[in-house]
Formats: sequence, C-alpha cells, structure tokens
Amino acid sequence: MPAGFQQLGGETVTGTLALSVFTAVLGSLEFGYNIGVINAPQKIIEADYNATWVHRYGVPIPTGTLTSLWSLSVAIFSIGGMLSSFCVGFISEWLGRRKAMLINNLFAFIGGSLMGLAKLCRSFEMMILGRFIIGAFCGLASSLTPMYVGEIAPTSLRGALGTLHQMAIVTGILIAQILGLESLLGSEELWPVLMGLTVVPTVLQMVLLPFCPESPRFLYIVRCQEHHAKSGLRRLTGRLEVGDMLAEMKEEKRRMDMERKVSIPELFRSPLYRQPIIISILLQLSQQLSGVNAIFYYSTSIFMKAGVQSPVYATIGAGVVNCAFTVVSLFLIERMGRRTLHMLGLGGMCICAIIMTTALALLDSIPWMRYISMLAIFGFVAFFEVGPGPIPWFFVAELFSQGPRPAAMAVAGCSNWTANFIIGMGFQYVAELCGPYVFLIFAALLLFFLIFTFFRVPETRGKTFDQIAANFHQRTPAGMMDMDMDLDKPSTELDYLGEENIN
Ligand code: GLC
Repeated sequence: MPAGFQQLGGETVTGTLALSVFTAVLGSLEFGYNIGVINAPQKIIEADYNATWVHRYGVPIPTGTLTSLWSLSVAIFSIGGMLSSFCVGFISEWLGRRKAMLINNLFAFIGGSLMGLAKLCRSFEMMILGRFIIGAFCGLASSLTPMYVGEIAPTSLRGALGTLHQMAIVTGILIAQILGLESLLGSEELWPVLMGLTVVPTVLQMVLLPFCPESPRFLYIVRCQEHHAKSGLRRLTGRLEVGDMLAEMKEEKRRMDMERKVSIPELFRSPLYRQPIIISILLQLSQQLSGVNAIFYYSTSIFMKAGVQSPVYATIGAGVVNCAFTVVSLFLIERMGRRTLHMLGLGGMCICAIIMTTALALLDSIPWMRYISMLAIFGFVAFFEVGPGPIPWFFVAELFSQGPRPAAMAVAGCSNWTANFIIGMGFQYVAELCGPYVFLIFAALLLFFLIFTFFRVPETRGKTFDQIAANFHQRTPAGMMDMDMDLDKPSTELDYLGEENIN
C-alpha cells in the first residue's frame, strides 16, 4: 500500500479520494450553517428591520409586518432550495458534477455578500434576497454533493462516505448555533459577520475543486471519455490497474445505452423506475415529516415552553447530540445496513415523540417532567441521526443507475425541500392549535414511514449500482410489469440478490 494511504473497510482511501470528499462536503457544511444560523439572532435582526423602517418612514414597524418579514426571511431559504434542486438533473449533466459544484459557489458568494451587507445598506430586502439565493445554493449542493460522493466512492464505503454529507450538515448547524450566541457573533454589531461567514467554505471549495477529479462514472458512462475516466479512477484508487472497475461501468453503460434518456415524467411513467422513485420520495418525506426541523427551527421556544432553564444552551445541546449520533451512524452504516438503521431511527423517534407529548401534557402537575421532555427531545434528535438524517440523502443516488440518477435526484431533492418548507411555515400554527399534542402528528407519520420502510425499502449495502438497478428490473418481469403485486411481502424477501452476491 503506498505511503500516506489509509485502509478502511478493506478499501484503500487515497489522499485524492479524501480530498475530493472533503471538498465536496464543504457545500454540505454551508447548507447546515444556513439552516442553523437564523435561529438565535432572530430578535436582534428584527430590531434592525425595525430601525430601517423607522429610518425610512419615521414610525416603528407594525408588529404584523415585522412577523411577515421575518417569516419570509426564514422560509424563502427553502423556496430557493425547492426551485434550484429541481434543476439539479439538467445542471449536473450539462456541466458535469465538479463544474456544477464550482459554479454553484457563485450563488453562495452572492447570497452571503447580500446578507453580510444588508445592515450596512439598511435594507431588509437584501437580507431576504440573500436568503433566497443562499437557499438556491443549498438546494443544488444538497443533491450535487451526495451524487458526486456516491459516484467516486468505492462500493464498500459508499454508505460511510455518503454519511459524511450529513456529518458536514450537522457540523454546520452546530457551528452556526455556537457562533450565533450573543456573546460571540449573534450581537447587534456582529450579526452581519455571522451571516457573511458562509462565504469562507465557499472560497475554500473553489480553491480545492480544481484538484479533485471529475466523477469517472460520469466521464465514462455519460461523456464516453474512457481515457479521462481511467486516469480519474487511478487517482482515486491509487491503483494502476482499474480494469475491474471499468468493466463494471461498461456493464452499466451497456444497459444505459439500451434505455431511452430518462426525463422526470419518464421516472413516473416507466414501470422500471416508478418503484424506486416512490421509495426515494417517501424516504425524503420520512426525513422531513419526522418533524426534526420543528426542533431545529423552533427549539429555543419549544425548550422555553417545556420550562427548561437556558433554552439557548439546550438548543446547543441538541446540536451536540445531533453531531455525536451522526458519527454513530457513520460507523454502523456499512455493518447494519441502511434499511435496519432507517427503521431503528424512525421507531426510536416515534417512541421519543410519544414520551415528549406525555411529558409536556403532565408538565403543570409534575414539574420534573421538564427534564423528561428535554431528554425526549435529545433522544428524538439522536434517533434521527442514526438513520432518517443521513440515509435518504445518499440512498437515492444508490437506487438509480447513471441514466435516471440526475432526474431522480432532482425529484427527491425537490420533495425534501418542499416538505422542509411546509414544516418551517406550518409548524408554529399547528403547534398553537394542538398545544402539547403537536408531536403526536409526527409520531403517527413516523409509524407510517416505518411500516412503509419495512415493506418496500430494499437493502443496498455492498451492492454495485448496476446490481441495485437490476434488482428492480428483476422485480418487473420483462421489465414491464408493475411491482405492486409484491406489496404484501417484506422487501428483504424480495431481494433476488442474496447476501452471497454482495461484493
Ligand atoms: C438533514 C435534513 C435537514 C435537517 C438536518 C438536521 O440534513 O435534510 O433539513 O435540518 O438533517 O440535522
């Protein structure tokens, strides 16, 4: 083994592979940072919106207008993400994965600068526009990163490296939560720095990307550039002889050449893709409708209602738990498999949601219930990161071969962002209506997704993209029959690729 190379899961992790994954997940770090950054400094930024209003119109801003402006500043981020994630298929095919990531940084640069300069220019419009543009950056990054990482990762490390996308997201959230403390950057003078800091990983990614190879699968299967694909593979694996990998890609390309180009409507029309696309959408929905962002967007007020002292620090505690359990998932994913961890996470979250509801309902009569509710929230977040956090992001890239992958990533990403928007906008209203029982809605949804995963989601661990796609083809005899006939059997029974075929 060449010096400086690491052995992991029986696979060699070369410097180039490590650098490429690190560089790609800088986009995920920014994504997380922008999810977390808006929570703590709300009151301070609102005060600035008011100052601008007074400066322009000579009167304080009406409360309703301020609430609307703030909700818009928060939610327009997901609208940017929704719109851009839908374009990811076209952009990643047109520019390639690496150039798409490089150019996407322009969005981050413009968005970050607009937000960073909004106070100086006395303009809440700049802040709102900046949030929209940074949302557009995140929408693209949230699909480009797992796509690129999934394509350059060796089969046996695809899950572990795929989890690094989520690892970077949660690290970004935690950094933003900590820097957002009033004693650090969440103050009246420094909040523009807090907002503008997002351009730091942008610049780093722009500097490093030219040193990373383009995805060899993309070069070979889509662009037919065998020579470039080979040299990329050599750099990523550290091996001179890459014939076996090329042969696997050749097989995937052969199949792809036999199929028509896959558009988004085709994904739903073709019996070959309908099942995996439904699974992809439902996995993304299971991530967002689990209610995790109700915690990440509104944790401070949830902890406050639960009677927790220092809710801001409890929020940071949730961020720490979030990071710690993503690491747990990282180590378990290639051992226990995606399906098991996803079910474990959904089940655990469901139980925690029920405990949280009970604790909140009993709060008035039993004061120590506030500790139980806090522990239940931490447990909820921990179980999220065991499965529903990291898995849906890279699972979609695994379920599809090169041809339909970009279109599928676009549909899945857009579903994720739409659900994210619905929770961001709707949670507070529903919470007001339902009081302490609001998390029972999430518990019911979680149970539904758990049952769905049990019956419909296959295991993909250790299988090549082609084997996974072939698994679905196999289930549709002659590639034409729908799979609904298999609804009553747990999906593990359906795997025609038994464990003996793994690797
Ligand atoms: C996932 C979700 C994101 C959420 C985060 C929390 O990445 O996509 O919406 O905020 O996990 O860790």
